[in-house]
Amino acid sequence: MTSAARQRSEAFCARFGLQRPVLLSPMAGACPVALSRAVIEAGGMGAMGAVLSQPDDIGAWMADLRAAGGGPAQINLWIPDPAPVRDGAAEAATRAFLAQWGPDVAAEAGDAMPADFDAQSAALLAARPAVASSIMGVFPAPFVARLKAAGIAWFACATTLDEALAAEAAGADAVVAQGFEAGGHRGAFDSAHAEARAVGLFSLVPRLADALRVPVIAAGGIADGRGIAAALTLGASAVQMGTAFLRTPEVGVSPPWADALARAAPEQMRLTRAFSGRPGRALATAYVRAADAPDAPPPQPYPVQRALTAPMRAAAVREDRIDAMQAWAGQSAAYAQARPAAELVADGWRAAEALL
Ligand SMILES: Cc1cc2nc3c(=O)[nH]c(=O)nc-3n(C[C@H](O)[C@H](O)[C@H](O)COP(=O)(O)O)c2cc1C
Repeated sequence: MTSAARQRSEAFCARFGLQRPVLLSPMAGACPVALSRAVIEAGGMGAMGAVLSQPDDIGAWMADLRAAGGGPAQINLWIPDPAPVRDGAAEAATRAFLAQWGPDVAAEAGDAMPADFDAQSAALLAARPAVASSIMGVFPAPFVARLKAAGIAWFACATTLDEALAAEAAGADAVVAQGFEAGGHRGAFDSAHAEARAVGLFSLVPRLADALRVPVIAAGGIADGRGIAAALTLGASAVQMGTAFLRTPEVGVSPPWADALARAAPEQMRLTRAFSGRPGRALATAYVRAADAPDAPPPQPYPVQRALTAPMRAAAVREDRIDAMQAWAGQSAAYAQARPAAELVADGWRAAEALL
């Protein structure tokens, strides 16, 4: 490996207790303990996406990980957006539209709110993972102070240099550079500008690496040794992979979603607000295409749209219907392999080392 890339990744691994600079992405709804354990056993870092989790679930996940052997893992929280501006007539139009793709949506469905952030933060501190990670903004200063006092590192997701610098200034120990290719929600601090500021990983990683003092973790479209080698060469100290693990036996996403990934060309995924009101990269299913069409009612703000689409999303999973499923996927989905996660980490890193 080129010496600069080797030094960066070795320093990162030594600091965070890893054998390989490969992190599992935190993926809310797709992060069973078994997947994290497999990645940890292969020398990488596990992850829990906790945005939808109640405080007790966070403690239970960490306890289960420890019971299964433990190891370095991150617990990920979303920084809450400002309270959404509600519009009853617009919500009614969205509910009528959604009823064409799933069950009727109750008038009060949009009132459902995600779990309380302060309670989640307290549960994270009590669970004492190696790393707390943030997306959609920076942790509040008092929480950062408590993380530092507890010896928990903070990884902050950023999609632009401005966001990365804000995270570094707020005390982040590493910055996750999330490229435009990434599956799932975009981490833009200000959702209003998320699509306009979507930067590809080849531009984002060197820009952050040149400007930051803290290590950069590259995320978005990395699926094999070539992507790992490229990201480290561009200045990253480690990589974070999500979609690449979605077909592993440890995850168990619903079969139509897993099957569709194998066949998906990069242009078949798109950034859409149709599921939650915040943009995320998903398979352009029939629902996504219809909801994004100019004649469809515009999506409601986050998290109202997420609440309104919940009945449709649940029914689609129950009925194995990909057309209305929330099938997050990054642009390298076709490289996701139906193999054990530990093999993906070990083979990916071996191939990266050979290339470098
Ligand atoms: C199914 C799925 C769920 C995700 N959920 C979260 C999440 O809860 N929090 C978060 O920070 N990122 C989330 N992400 C984004 C990942 O952290 C990461 O940016 C992405 O997986 C990298 O791109 P890739 O999927 O092409 O590897 C999710 C991604 C996927 C595919």
